[in-house]
Amino acid sequence: MNTKKISIAIDGPSGSGKGTLAKKLANKLGFIYVDTGALYRTIGLDVQRKGIASDDTESIIKNLSQIDINMVNVNSQVQILLDGEPVDDEIRTPTSSIYSSCVSKIPEVRLFLLDLQKNIALKNNVVMDGRDIGTVILPKADLKIFLHADEHDRAQRRYNELISKGEDVTYEKVLADMRWRDANDKTREIAPAVPAADAVMLDNSGLSPDETFEAALKIVKDRLAL
Ligand code: DC
Repeated sequence: MNTKKISIAIDGPSGSGKGTLAKKLANKLGFIYVDTGALYRTIGLDVQRKGIASDDTESIIKNLSQIDINMVNVNSQVQILLDGEPVDDEIRTPTSSIYSSCVSKIPEVRLFLLDLQKNIALKNNVVMDGRDIGTVILPKADLKIFLHADEHDRAQRRYNELISKGEDVTYEKVLADMRWRDANDKTREIAPAVPAADAVMLDNSGLSPDETFEAALKIVKDRLAL
């Protein structure tokens, strides 16, 4: 029998720590973790690799039929393959972040990824993170959390992450890129990155990843009979 699957949507801006939280929650609950930002990042990387400009909407749309993108389940986490290869590190560079935000504004790109995201949640219990999970992808999610934090906290986290990976960046550049991306993601016409009306707001300014996890787990326990 096909039992109804449970879905938890975690949306929020970059640097809010939604990936870390979603991964921990999925692990704790035995659900699959789906990082939807990685899908947009992978399309951005493909565009970048093919030498298409980030504002060349027509070529980005044409290229969608040429993309070889696949998702596989590795240790309860969805891994994305581009041309058959994992691209986890390459999609995390500052340039990839900019490309991902640019491609994510294009309605055809969002439509291209829509069923891919919905279908995983139909077949699995999921914790899915992104920008429009609670509003567009899983409007009937069992629980929606919108994770946010002060922009300086978020920029500092992102800066630490990039430095630990050996990237040559300054805090000021990270903050400026983050502001640009926040504005781009929030003000786009399609699926803007805003909280769903029924999302639980969780502000994790000043909280560690473990404290954020405990706060979210409490919300899960209060709202879901798991
Ligand atoms: O979560 P992230 O920073 O890895 O996402 C990369 C970009 O993709 C981000 O600028 C916004 C976009 N995105 C989106 O538009 N919708 C999603 N569900 C997830 C990400």
